[in-house]
Amino acid sequence: MKIAIDGPAGAGKSTIAKLVAAALGIDYLDTGAMYRAVALQVLKGDKDPEDPVQVLETAKKAEISFMNNQICVQGENVGEAIRTPQVNRLVSKVAKIPELREWMVEKQREISRTNDVIMDGRDIGSVVLPDADHKFYLDASIDIRARRRYDEQPENKDGQSLEDIKEDIRRRDAEDRNRLVGPLTIAHDAIVIDTSHMGVDEVVAMILKRIKE
Ligand code: CDP
Ligand code: CDP
Repeated sequence: MKIAIDGPAGAGKSTIAKLVAAALGIDYLDTGAMYRAVALQVLKGDKDPEDPVQVLETAKKAEISFMNNQICVQGENVGEAIRTPQVNRLVSKVAKIPELREWMVEKQREISRTNDVIMDGRDIGSVVLPDADHKFYLDASIDIRARRRYDEQPENKDGQSLEDIKEDIRRRDAEDRNRLVGPLTIAHDAIVIDTSHMGVDEVVAMILKRIKE
């Protein structure tokens, strides 16, 4: 079974996909984490994020893998480091490079060949798994998505303001929607769910019901 979940930042893709995967006993693949891991390595190596040669070379050297749903670079868990504001700012620039996308899509398809999987991202239903058994597109208003990200910040940490988060999401969504290769889009056969006024459990139940129907 292949399930695709796409949508903009903060729509709830990874939260929902993990729970659906657990309910169905299938694997979960966070494709956003893969692009984030490359952005992190580009930052660390002080590479040019707009140079396809440098970015692709960095991606190949990263030896991206997953252990217990945690993303690893060269065997080391980088789960926390890929979610910083610096990575947020860089990731869409790296993700618009066609050469990197081609390489990523191949890696993601390879995983789906041997495993039942639910993947979340931007181009899963449209490019990575066009023949997926089920496709969902999760959405929510920008205010609600920004508020969700804001609420995730630990209380005792100097986090970003709600406005900064909203601006960051708005810019990233625009870059993801407007790139030439693999843009954020609603696949023609995807079921769109507006999660703005739904709880997590409600969204999971709706998806499981659709799958079982
Ligand atoms: O969790 P959040 O929605 O903020 O982002 P993410 O899913 O971790 O994805 C981070 C970034 O990776 C996105 O803003 C896209 O630029 C890129 N991405 C992509 O281009 N294609 C995918 N299939 C997944 C992510
Ligand atoms: O992966 P994506 O960027 O789409 O979103 P996420 O990383 O799963 O973050 C969504 C946040 O909103 C999490 O803190 C969820 O607990 C919360 N949330 C949700 O995912 N779905 C709802 N219907 C309501 C809240």
